[in-house]
Amino acid sequence: METSISSHPERGPWGNPRWRGNASGYFYKDLFEALGPKTFVDPMVGSGTSVEVAREMGIEAVGLDLHSGFNILRDSILEIVGRPADLVFSHPPYHDMIVYSGEVWGDEPHPDDLSRAGSVEEFADKLHQAVLNQRTATKPGGHYGVLIGDLRRQGRYYSFQAELIARLPTDELAAVLVKVQHNVSSNARNYRLRYPRIMHEYALLWRKQDRSTYQVIGAMAFPQKRRLEGTWRALVRQAMVEHGGEAALADLYRTLEEGAPERVRNNPHWKAKVRQVLQRHGDFRPLARGVWALAA
Ligand SMILES: C[S@@+](CC[C@H](N)C(=O)[O-])C[C@H]1O[C@@H](n2cnc3c(N)ncnc32)[C@H](O)[C@@H]1O
Repeated sequence: METSISSHPERGPWGNPRWRGNASGYFYKDLFEALGPKTFVDPMVGSGTSVEVAREMGIEAVGLDLHSGFNILRDSILEIVGRPADLVFSHPPYHDMIVYSGEVWGDEPHPDDLSRAGSVEEFADKLHQAVLNQRTATKPGGHYGVLIGDLRRQGRYYSFQAELIARLPTDELAAVLVKVQHNVSSNARNYRLRYPRIMHEYALLWRKQDRSTYQVIGAMAFPQKRRLEGTWRALVRQAMVEHGGEAALADLYRTLEEGAPERVRNNPHWKAKVRQVLQRHGDFRPLARGVWALAA
């Protein structure tokens, strides 16, 4: 794992090559060599690839999965394993790209199977909780992470890796790797797409800081607030640009109302917000009463 690209055409002897959505054992080998964990947990172990590699390398490893009675949305990984691990890394389903319960294993659909989440949004929420469960089971200074792919559905592109990065503590993000997907089955429908077929997935790694899962909200709230503030600033600047660099407040309100109705509808104080943006940042200067311009 010397670079941020991971590419292994072979999967090696570990796990089960017939398990749909299995990962190459060489990927895990690189991961363990880079991070050197003494203890490892994979809470969505599938056919067991990661755990087999880990044990071969002398790492104490625990593999859990819904197929054998562990449910990441209801059971605490930490409680089951008994002590926090150096590395808690999972390879979740990519929403319903491959459906597991009742298809790959078992006779019945399982309601908490991540691959059976009712919508992309529900999947993202459940995935978020799963990673928080992993985080709780990680030693401070240790790593938690996922191998996850993006998804194209009905003309839309959903980036679960971007979603996770946005939802987890920014100051814990340690590495993002692009993993090349080999042996992806093609289908004729894909060839007609205007956009490239997705041939990669991501390995995301966070390094846990010494604070509880619930303190994490403190670490996340600030970046989220900054992002929202930045969005307002960008919207007001763009409205000003559309008015040729200077505009009366009333015109800015109108443009924003027409251009961003949802954002405006969600904030009953949005006009005050616009005035605050104009006054607070050095981006704008007052020209006359109620008229503003982009600062030089
Ligand atoms: C992509 S597969 C893992 C493949 C594995 N890396 C391998 O090489 O075989 C994802 C796994 O997540 C499991 N899973 C789905 N929902 C789960 C849940 N709520 N709790 C635990 N495991 C779950 C599925 O049963 C499936 O085995």
